[in-house]
Amino acid sequence: GVDEPIVVAIDGPAGSGKSSVSKQVARRLGFGYLDTGAAYRALAWHALAHGVDTSDSASVLDVVGDFDYAISLDPDAYWVRVGQTDVTAAIRETHVTEAVSGVARVPAVRESVNALFRSLVDGSGRPGVVIEGRDITTVVAPDAPVRILLTASPAVRAARRSAEVTTQSAADVAEALHRRDAADSTVVDFLTAAPGVTVVDSTDLDFDQTVEAVIGVISTVTSAQ
Ligand code: DC
Repeated sequence: GVDEPIVVAIDGPAGSGKSSVSKQVARRLGFGYLDTGAAYRALAWHALAHGVDTSDSASVLDVVGDFDYAISLDPDAYWVRVGQTDVTAAIRETHVTEAVSGVARVPAVRESVNALFRSLVDGSGRPGVVIEGRDITTVVAPDAPVRILLTASPAVRAARRSAEVTTQSAADVAEALHRRDAADSTVVDFLTAAPGVTVVDSTDLDFDQTVEAVIGVISTVTSAQ
């Protein structure tokens, strides 16, 4: 319908530049920005706060019921809350990152967050929303007019992540990234583009060039409509 926002679906692995690029693209277009990984991270934070063993699906399911969280769609005022607690920074901590794959693996968790993502997009009040994650082009918004897989070589992704994470050695960061990719890709294949998905490889692009490449894909698709 006329009121439905244009959805830009962006998937990719950790360290592909997905989050920062998606946020900047949203800013440039006046779109909302939805970081779906943050929802999984917020649930992992919530489970850890309740002393739950996140490798145990049944225990994770026990705390999904009272998981009350809110997430900003404003790329200029980004925050994540669980209940009354602002967890924007806490969900990036290493212990949460280590626990998140276990939480994201539970099908009932995925169904419940996906329903919320769809309602957030519909109620965004923006002309469009950039949604980034692992299964956006395939599961959350398979009918989106713009679907992009943002990739980069494993070495470049590890180097970017290591520049962000100052508390671990480069080797430890590369190791953790590899381990999380392996765990996450058993849940969704985010390294292969589904039919109709445009690949943007940022291995040899800097941040601004990657933003331009994504905006280029969006304008090609939306002007053709
Ligand atoms: O993008 P990120 O590192 O913040 O994502 C956190 C975790 O959530 C990641 O380990 C994979 C999972 N995830 C997912 O399974 N599906 C999504 N759409 C987004 C993230």
